[in-house]
Amino acid sequence: MVDQTEVSAAADRIRISGDNEVSTYLEIAEAREPGQLLTPAPNAPEAVVVIDYGSQYSMLIARRIREANVYSELVPWNAGPEALSHLRVKGFVLSGGPASVYAPGAPTLPPYVLASGLPVLGICYGMQLLTHSLGGRVAPSSSREYGHAVITVSDPENPLLDGLPAALPVWMSHGDRIIDLPPGFRAIAHSENSPVAVMANGTGYLGLQFHPEVVHTTEGDHLLRNFLTRIAGCAADWTPASFVEESITTITEQVGGGRVICALSGGVDSAVAATLVHRAVGDQLTCIFVDNGLLRAEEAERVVSTFREHMAINLIHLEARERFIGELGGITDPERKRRTIGETFIHVFEEEAARLGEVDFIVQGTTYPDVIESASTGSAAAKIKTHHNVGGLPPDMRLSLVEPLRNLFKDEVRRAGKELGLADEIVYRQPFPGPGLAIRVIGEVTAQKLNVLRRCDWIVMDEVKRAAVYYELWQAFAVLTDTRTVGVQGDFRTYGFCVALRCVTAEDAMTADWARLPYDLLARISSRIVNEVPEVNRVVYDITSKPPGTIEWE
Ligand code: XMP
Repeated sequence: MVDQTEVSAAADRIRISGDNEVSTYLEIAEAREPGQLLTPAPNAPEAVVVIDYGSQYSMLIARRIREANVYSELVPWNAGPEALSHLRVKGFVLSGGPASVYAPGAPTLPPYVLASGLPVLGICYGMQLLTHSLGGRVAPSSSREYGHAVITVSDPENPLLDGLPAALPVWMSHGDRIIDLPPGFRAIAHSENSPVAVMANGTGYLGLQFHPEVVHTTEGDHLLRNFLTRIAGCAADWTPASFVEESITTITEQVGGGRVICALSGGVDSAVAATLVHRAVGDQLTCIFVDNGLLRAEEAERVVSTFREHMAINLIHLEARERFIGELGGITDPERKRRTIGETFIHVFEEEAARLGEVDFIVQGTTYPDVIESASTGSAAAKIKTHHNVGGLPPDMRLSLVEPLRNLFKDEVRRAGKELGLADEIVYRQPFPGPGLAIRVIGEVTAQKLNVLRRCDWIVMDEVKRAAVYYELWQAFAVLTDTRTVGVQGDFRTYGFCVALRCVTAEDAMTADWARLPYDLLARISSRIVNEVPEVNRVVYDITSKPPGTIEWE
């Protein structure tokens, strides 16, 4: 619990700002209500919490803070203080967002933020909200300001701007701007269109009219680091290794003596999640690996040898190939395929889990992009993702979730995996979709077509690895189209499958570009496929970016 001296200190701080005494006092008073104050967890890592107002960059802020070696999580603006109870909060960042502070129903500042007396950095909407809450005024800009701008520092003495050049490029994105600073505040940097590009009140409340978290703000990391260390007083000693240790402690506490199951897919997310849980609770964990017949060549063997033999994790290897192929018979619609695979997975998984007897928890390798995808595309998408990645949660199983990677991006998951000692083979593996090769066989999925595709896929992997471009590509794979084309081999006319190659580069899978692979490599892949896989007589290269294309063909 924050003690009353801290609350009074916060109130005093705000009282300095004069005009706004009444409303902020009300907020403080409201915050005195039990349940509205923060309860810092004494042994938890120091954290700076990002309050999310819906900007597309919100999670990026948390990630940048973690890159500056301070633990950070994102919480929705309307969550109660209990969402922070596992953290030792040292400060807040208020994210940007699409709303305008005066709009009806606009998101507000949670009372615990000011009541905590901790430093606050508002970014764009966050800055306007801070201004509005502390008695300043915000109005729509006459000209909206988006994109590159240059700000000029007018108070280089301010710890936030310490060590920064006098003029720096920033990335602006705002429709509203500040017309009256809250009492006690000063503009400490300006741009041509924003007289208040940076504001500060000298007691730990600051605002930025631009985005420090995006790469275009070249000194953004420096600025955030100043906030974290110089203003919020963080020790900045958090590392991915601390993440691993802290997760193990959290999982141990959460699970206690309970029994845990995990659906292992062979991908990096479930591998890292399972390994963390195994470190925490050892043999209380049982992993279930379902061989659905939609995997790459030698994949099942690899998963079994890695997890059962090398890592000594309890692993159940379920061979369900025929069941999946049987269920997929006659289905050509991509969505029905996905649904069928998801449902079959759940049945198989559920039957096995039931055999295990009493189980209390299920591990999911959910990462932050999955959380976003589920939230932004609604429950149907969430369901698909759940089914395909983790087998879903059968309602009558009533298992509690263990999701240790929920706040991490893929590269952070990879760093945690390295920290846990997982092999590069697993950690840097290209993503592979839950529904597997089924969404790369266009039209009906049959055992014969899967077999053809598996051999093509093997050649693509082999050549891409030999050419040492595997790690540069987000994904490289073959698609078995449902187009047949005429060819000539020797003296014979053939009528074979046309295979498409899909090789993309990406930072995350939200956007992607087709890889400019060397022609020699493409030539080798093509000639090996048509020579080694007799059912295929033509190979084409997909040169579509995402958007407008997707990565998978489905
Ligand atoms: P698209 O085709 O939408 O794919 O551009 C984006 C990324 O997601 C992968 N993908 C999936 N991964 N379960 C997964 O775990 C799925 O159901 C699924 N569908 C697509 C795809 O391989 C690409 O990396």
